[in-house]
Amino acid sequence: MPRDAVQRRAFSVYSRIVGTGSYLPEQIVTNFDLERRMDTSDAWIRERTGIERRHIAPLGQSNVDMAEQAARAAIAAAGLQPTDIDLISFGTTTPDLVFPNAGVLLQARLGCRGGPAFSLEAACSGFIYALAVADKFVRAGDAKHALVVGSEILSRITDHSDRSTAILFGDGAGAVVLAASAEPGILSTHLHADGSYQHLLYCTGGPARGPAPGNMPPGDVVRMAGSEVFKIAVTLLGRIVDETLAANHLEKSDIDWLVPHQANIRIIQAVARKLGLPIEQVIVTVQEHGNTSTASVPLALDVGVRDGRIKRGDLLLLEALGGGVTWGSALLRY
Ligand code: ACO
Repeated sequence: MPRDAVQRRAFSVYSRIVGTGSYLPEQIVTNFDLERRMDTSDAWIRERTGIERRHIAPLGQSNVDMAEQAARAAIAAAGLQPTDIDLISFGTTTPDLVFPNAGVLLQARLGCRGGPAFSLEAACSGFIYALAVADKFVRAGDAKHALVVGSEILSRITDHSDRSTAILFGDGAGAVVLAASAEPGILSTHLHADGSYQHLLYCTGGPARGPAPGNMPPGDVVRMAGSEVFKIAVTLLGRIVDETLAANHLEKSDIDWLVPHQANIRIIQAVARKLGLPIEQVIVTVQEHGNTSTASVPLALDVGVRDGRIKRGDLLLLEALGGGVTWGSALLRY
């Protein structure tokens, strides 16, 4: 191995989060606003999901517009300049364009040319997937300061006449900067997928398949068999908690904070119960943000960091499950 490669490896034992940032569009849609538009109620939405309001991006604001704000906040929090970023790993299911990919568009906004920039799509698990990939680049010595983004405008692919999904989703973006570090860091990531569940949660069309019959663009929308997905989520997320702790020879009681995907307060509570964690040790934003898909974990992380609950040295468990189904976790020392 060349000498410089050995040195890079020795330095890059871990990747560590050195900055977080997030962005939410200004417009807020409350459950009461939805009550006026469809056959639903604030009481039903709060009881079944925990959601009270969500932020919705106005037409004219794009995914990368939101991601840029979150990225700049994360880079500033890390005490870095955009030009220090040498890799962008961007999780999203609602990119501005099919190509250039969202990572490349963000790279151009930030003015950090030359390093790899890519987007990857794993529905609500997208940020955990993007984090896991970036972590491996940093640990291999192939990136020093990686920007990891989860940004989503799910309102653009929501059927706003379908009360079973329209009440759930919100828009937003979150980002972290990972730096090569001799100190831990991300301890492990765990990714899974099971395509046999694809019919339970999906978008009705795409660029290669074309729109669903009778559904002209831009009419492709999310469809979800909610109660089936709910059961699968509780089972698979419970299982990945065990897998993550066992891989690190840690006990449930070692976890300081659960930072879960914010799909439904009842799923969050079930995972917290599995961990024996009181809800006070869970970062819960679902009431404020709704389900922002890929953005929900980095948004929640940024909230917990900025309000001072999450402190340096705390042990964090991040987890998410999304369409596919895909699911994943990350255990990290903040
Ligand atoms: N307002 C009032 N009533 C409603 C609404 C609504 N908005 N939506 C559904 N209902 C009704 C249904 O019609 C049904 O009525 P019925 O009993 O007369 O048939 C009743 O409420 C119960 O419906 P369910 O779908 O069984 O309700 P459930 O308790 O399962 O809650 C929910 C639905 C909130 C969607 C839940 O199943 C859930 O959170 N699922 C998991 C979501 C998730 O984790 N998704 C993965 C990530 S998302 C992604 O990857 C893009």
